[in-house]
Amino acid sequence: MTNITIIGSQWGDEGKGKIVDWLASRADAVVRFQGGHNAGHTLVIDGKVYKLHLLPSGIVRPGKLSIIGNGVVIDPWALVAEIATLRGQGVEITPDNLLVSENAPMILPLHGAIDRAMEAARGAQKIGTTGRGIGPAYEDKIGRRVLRICDLAHPDTLKSKIENMLMHHNAILKGLGAPTLAAEEFVASLKEIAPQILPFAGSCWQALDQAKSSGKKILFEGAQGVMLDVDHGTYPFVTSSNTIAAQAAIGSGVGADQIGYVLGITKAYTTRVGSGPFPTELTDAIGETLGQRGHEFGTTTGRKRRCGWFDAAQVRQVVKVSGIHGIALTKLDVMDTLQEIKICIGYECRGKKYDYLPASADLQAEVKPIYEAMPGWQSSLQGVRKFADLPENALKYVRRLETLIGVPAAVISTSPEREDTILVKDPFQ
Ligand code: IMP
Repeated sequence: MTNITIIGSQWGDEGKGKIVDWLASRADAVVRFQGGHNAGHTLVIDGKVYKLHLLPSGIVRPGKLSIIGNGVVIDPWALVAEIATLRGQGVEITPDNLLVSENAPMILPLHGAIDRAMEAARGAQKIGTTGRGIGPAYEDKIGRRVLRICDLAHPDTLKSKIENMLMHHNAILKGLGAPTLAAEEFVASLKEIAPQILPFAGSCWQALDQAKSSGKKILFEGAQGVMLDVDHGTYPFVTSSNTIAAQAAIGSGVGADQIGYVLGITKAYTTRVGSGPFPTELTDAIGETLGQRGHEFGTTTGRKRRCGWFDAAQVRQVVKVSGIHGIALTKLDVMDTLQEIKICIGYECRGKKYDYLPASADLQAEVKPIYEAMPGWQSSLQGVRKFADLPENALKYVRRLETLIGVPAAVISTSPEREDTILVKDPFQ
């Protein structure tokens, strides 16, 4: 297999940045295929920190083609700002190394405003979105009224396309007694931003077809995690895109057989930002320890992440729905000080046992985890680079997780440093 698809196996923030960067350094092209600037990937290269939201991780490495696929929702102003920030850090970004899919939908300022207004209206029921307009833009895409990158090339028809989109939104605004929106204000700002976006616009599927013909290695870079998938996640506390590996094909225009080895980035414990069910959540001192030692604060919003034990029932389910071949187990070192470690192997709810997370939001809110416990290793994993050098109890923990989720750990990360990585199986081979 030449290609790799990377996805998050939990609720996002699994530590994809380090693994993606390591694999991107060996890929020819890196492709984002869903989500938008709600994502946050931190890369540390030669001591320099790069924070990416919309741009694929290959962008910081010379000679790689970075592609933003049609499955991504693109805020053109956020994209221009991110390009400027990275250029300011010395990263070269030109149409030779960045391709923006011409059929990708755009997020306009009204989508962010709707996102934030809806969250405020939900009150205690809020989803905890990033407020970036992701959901409303995807709604407009499915509603067949969104503007796409290619529309920027046709200024004469922009106004009528925006009017078509506003027909929907203005009807709602009127119903709420709020002021309606006029197409003109959007036309002017889109015409202004267009010259900064259009040089990068092109056909993603054709570029990938060419890459395939010339035997290039492609890395599909997922954002968020499978438990936030709009179909398979903890609905309605999810993001508005499909985050499973199959989306790599849909969101970039390659055949389903091209996504290659599916690597699920999996944290050795669990975290979640935003609201929604979290069966193994720890609101005690252990949760605090994991949060402190793991620096569990969001890259995009800075919010404190909720922490809990590893949920093997959930990851087992994710392995199946996403076709994961192997996992990259991250942040194992964060658990160094724990005396005892628990693993969730199933749930109990209303007198019934489950070995998977039931689909109903009502049941998801109520399920109680069934745990098994193991002794911790209580020594530092920092700098361990060979599987055999792991302390016995850490090794047993990894082996138990593999058995419970049904796939092997291909990669184990023992510190944020790039070198502190145990490679058990090379996903590119
Ligand atoms: P949205 O994607 O902004 O609509 O937010 C929907 C849910 O997904 C919220 O719970 C967010 O906290 C969560 N979410 C969105 N992007 C990320 C991410 O990159 N990491 C982790 N959670 C995310």
